[in-house]
Amino acid sequence: MGILDHWHPVLKSSDVRRKPVAVMIAGQPLAVFRTASGGLGAVADACPHRKLKLSAGTVVGDRLRCAYHGWSYDTAGNGESPGTPKMSACTTSFDIREDHGLIWVKSRGSQATFPDVSMPGYLPICTLIHTIPAPLELTVDNFNEIEHSGTVHATFGYDLDRMHEVSVRFEPTETTVRVVNAGPTKRINRFFGLLLNVRRGDLFHDDWTTHFSPVYSVFDHWWTSPDGSRESMVRWRLYVFFVPIDGRTTRVVSLTYAKSRYPGPAGCLRLVRWLLRRKIDEEVQADVDMLYHLADYDPGIEGLKLSRFDKVLGLTRERIKTIYRGESALPLAAR
Ligand code: FES
Ligand SMILES: [Fe+2]
Repeated sequence: MGILDHWHPVLKSSDVRRKPVAVMIAGQPLAVFRTASGGLGAVADACPHRKLKLSAGTVVGDRLRCAYHGWSYDTAGNGESPGTPKMSACTTSFDIREDHGLIWVKSRGSQATFPDVSMPGYLPICTLIHTIPAPLELTVDNFNEIEHSGTVHATFGYDLDRMHEVSVRFEPTETTVRVVNAGPTKRINRFFGLLLNVRRGDLFHDDWTTHFSPVYSVFDHWWTSPDGSRESMVRWRLYVFFVPIDGRTTRVVSLTYAKSRYPGPAGCLRLVRWLLRRKIDEEVQADVDMLYHLADYDPGIEGLKLSRFDKVLGLTRERIKTIYRGESALPLAAR
């Protein structure tokens, strides 16, 4: 399979109303539109006639009409030309679906399975989209190691002065990479600490698994007392999808859920959902800001001085190459 054969989230549902929307995925421009009867379409964003962007057109009934000469296309890409009605003019169309408040697309008819994002017992907190000025691999690297949390992050992560105490375990399978970390938490905002019942010296736990069709990581975050007898009042789960826009830009689509042990409906989380949303947004934005300052955007890792936290970089690269990009595995001698 190639990149476009996997299901990718490309827009929030609320972004697609009566006007078509232009999106880019792996260098492929798409026009996404919603028909008058509520159907969804995604087609290559270039009219087969004279290549006007179809995203500059309008939706008329159940068809997307090109702004230039009025040719129109249905959600399957079947075209009609008002001036030459007998001409067949099809354009490439994509599979499209709406799920978890997002619009997802993949190549028409590919066999990719849709990622499982069901979260029974958790409350949805927010869905965020951030654009990162780095290629896919370098963006995944950032989200898949925790050593940067001592300096970059405010809430989720480890005390820089005690980073050497943080344990890290890797559990790769043929199709996934799991990483399990635990160690002394960094000092977090006082109010947030009270809300979560996290105390100085507690352990932060970070357990995530990365999948490769498409590329996404599922993170579980929580805290315990050093002896494990007390757990924080709130646990988080984040689904983070990595969507390559082109070779230099990656969109990070995150769905955050939380579970609380406080009494009351949804553990009272609805009352503080705005605050949790802000926290997550700040934490992801901190990663975005850091990635602006890389000296080199070459995704290769040869020649880097890697730490004990970085073994994951090679594990994910191998699976991105074979599962996600559909390229052949590295020859044994090169591993
Ligand atoms: S370019 Fe689209 S109808 Fe002519
Ligand atoms: Fe980060």
